[in-house]
This record gives sequence, C-alpha cells and structure tokens, in this order.
Amino acid sequence: MAATAPFFPKTSTASITNPPKMTSVKKLAESPGLTSIPPVYTFPSNPQDEASSESEETIPTIDFSLLTSSDPNQRSKMIQELGKACQEWGFFMVINHGVSEVMTKEIIDAVKEFFDLPEEEKQEFQEKHVLDPIRYGTSFNISVDKVLCWRDFLKVFVHPEFHSLNNPPGFSDTALAYSEQVLKLTRELLRGISASLGLEDNYIDKALNLEKGLQILVANFYPPCPQPELAMGMLPHSDHGLLTILIQNEVGGLQVQHKGKWINVNVIPNSFLVNTGDQIEILSNGKYKSILHRAVVNNRAPRISIAMPLGPALNAIVRPAPKLLDNQNNPPAYIAMKYKDYLEAQQSSILDGKSSLDRVKIKMV
Ligand code: OGA
Ligand code: NI
Repeated sequence: MAATAPFFPKTSTASITNPPKMTSVKKLAESPGLTSIPPVYTFPSNPQDEASSESEETIPTIDFSLLTSSDPNQRSKMIQELGKACQEWGFFMVINHGVSEVMTKEIIDAVKEFFDLPEEEKQEFQEKHVLDPIRYGTSFNISVDKVLCWRDFLKVFVHPEFHSLNNPPGFSDTALAYSEQVLKLTRELLRGISASLGLEDNYIDKALNLEKGLQILVANFYPPCPQPELAMGMLPHSDHGLLTILIQNEVGGLQVQHKGKWINVNVIPNSFLVNTGDQIEILSNGKYKSILHRAVVNNRAPRISIAMPLGPALNAIVRPAPKLLDNQNNPPAYIAMKYKDYLEAQQSSILDGKSSLDRVKIKMV
C-alpha cells in the first residue's frame, strides 16, 4: 500500500505587510438607509440551504460535574457519553461547567465594547500576518476571500503567552480570567476524550504539550443584515485545533452539520457549545471527525459569539496516536505535521469546508 499526501502549497498570502484598509461590516451595516447588501457580500446561490431545526435529533449534553466526579462509575459513564458525542456528532453542549454566568456576560460585554470602538482604534490591530497574536479583521481572510462574509472578528492569542489590548479598559483582566477558566475546562474535556479513545487520560495533554497549547480568543461580530438570505456570517468550515468552546449573546445563528443536514443550534442557557477540531480527527486517526459548522445572519439584532479553540503547542507534531493504529486494519490515515504549519496554511486559505484537513489525509492507492 502506498501513501501519498501533498504538502500544503506555500502561499504568498500568509504575509501581507501593508493590507488595504478594510471596511468593517459593522460600519457598513450602520450606513443610513442600507436596504440591500453590496454584491461582494452576495453568494451566487442561496447559501442558507436546507437548515432544519433540531427535531428528531437531539444534540448531546455533557454534564461536566459528572465528568470530574470522584465516583469512578459516574466518571466512566460520562466518558462513554463523551466518546459517543464525539463519534456521532463532534458537537455537544457542556452544562455544570463551573464557569460563572457573570464571567461569560463580562467577556461578551468586553468584546462588544471592543467592536464599538471607533474604526481607527480597531484598525491598529488590522491583520498583517495570520500568526500575529492580535488581529482585527472582517470576513475570514480578505486577501483570498472571493465573496465576503458578513462578519468582523478579533483574534487574540491568550495562551501560552497572554496577549491583550489596553483598550477598551478592563478587556485584559476579563479576557485573562475567562481564558484561564476555559483552558482548564478544555484540558479536562481532553482528558475525558483521551480516556474515551482507550488512551491514558493525559495522553493528548502530554503528546501535544498542552502546557504550551495555543489558545485563541476569537470574537465574532455579526451585525444585522438587510438581506440575510443572500449573505453568510461564516462559511462551512471545521476548526483547526483540538476543541473549540463557544458562547454567544442571546442571538442564535450557529448551525452544525449532522448526517449531511444543517441543524440550527438552540442553546441551553449558560451552557458551553463544544466542537471537535481537525487535530482531534488526526490524533484519533479519523475515529472522531472534526465537525462542519457555519454561522448565518439575521436582520433583527447584532450577534456576538466568542469561540475559544485550544490547539497543540505550535511546535508540537500531530499524528495519529500510535496505540490506535495497526498496520493491517487501521493504518495511519493522516500524515504527521507540525501544528504551526497546519495553522498557518489553514488561516491563509479560503474557508472551504474541510479542505485543510484533506491536504494531510493519506490517500490509499
Ligand atoms: C468560529 C465559528 C461560529 C459562530 O469562530 O470558528 O465557527 O457561531 N464561529 O460564530
Ligand atoms: Ni468554527
């Protein structure tokens, strides 16, 4: 059996020294009398196809307090449920996670204050290189996007080194407190996921050096859109890291793909939305898939979401866990790759489903 997988092409878009000044969708949406969207935001066919509400299918719920229970029976039952959620959905809600409602409200308010700053102040952080620790931008990657998404974003690397903004005041303290809590939660979930794969609890943590894991605060702002059926907040994609923890203001818009269908996510109050990323798919050799998801927009109210992906350390090499492989029945299905290279390539490309992951898949011939 031969294995081939093309490496990522080197792109020139990873490094832009002088990006053109961007127009935020927030500013555009605030233009007086805006009743239609500019063609550059218009998708050729209806982008919001086939969404259905969660009806027969119920998104799994993980009770974090049971996952961390000192009763081994309760813990092992929750680990089983976690494994099932990862295998069947790649998406679940976490309840009883111990992060206070006050704290989630504070971080959403802090993000709102950031997007409310004057454009000139935000543009100080306009993106230059995809691995810059603080980046403000619009759509996904305007140097390659063909149609723009109705979304502004702020991305801040918060671990292993905490970066932050001085403005708005208080942002830094709130971001630090929230990131630390979410980091603890994510690492604990990954211990459960390790165990569910039949690996040592701390296998993922150790193998991918999560002590130095890359955690990013991704704040998304989706202003009301006068023609929501023609626009898209975020195109279908999978996340690059291991797990992403997402919260939102009271406005919905996240859809996940399950069994080929788009499902609107209705959130249990005060829960975290968690999805598996590409590195979990690689590490589990495809047993757990990274989930496709997207964000739609509306014409009623601004939506804010905060996604916090946790990935391996930038210099960690990610490969399928050797213990899960067997050359006869389960050969490696993904090439080994440094997380930094994966991330750089994914962030420099257009957002296109799972195309980044496809490039590290080993093609069986
Ligand atoms: C993301 C993401 C979805 C949302 O930031 O990666 O998928 O609901 N966000 O904002
Ligand atoms: Ni995402």
